[in-house]
Amino acid sequence: MNDPLIAAALAARAHAVAPFSKFPVGAALEDAGGRVYTGCNVENATYGLTMCAERVAVYKALSEGARDFRRIAIAADTDALTPPCGACRQILWEFCGDIEVALANPRGKMETLRLKDLFPKPFDVSYL
Ligand code: THU
Repeated sequence: MNDPLIAAALAARAHAVAPFSKFPVGAALEDAGGRVYTGCNVENATYGLTMCAERVAVYKALSEGARDFRRIAIAADTDALTPPCGACRQILWEFCGDIEVALANPRGKMETLRLKDLFPKPFDVSYL
């Protein structure tokens, strides 16, 4: 894989804690300075407290002081590339704005989107 951010998302996927869904996902979020924060999905016995790979990456980055973001890569093993869920789109929008979203699978398929196209009419702080 040529894109190091996609390579990081694929590598993070290997750490997924997904014994219930058996659907490992990896994410890698790049900040404005080029630093990369990775995440994987983390499931638990209640199911409902599952945390997606994307939000793990966002919260890791925020907790380490990063604030401006450029791109996120998301990796799962599906032919139709896996997009972020609705909850993750909300969090990505609020903390990362209209970033580039690169979707990828382990067989080299990839697609690049903008978050505003995935999440066209967001509720955010501008309404409060
Ligand atoms: N999942 C993610 O981590 N990110 C996505 O973009 C889609 C879904 C996780 C949540 C759950 O652990 C598993 O994939 C199946 O939904």
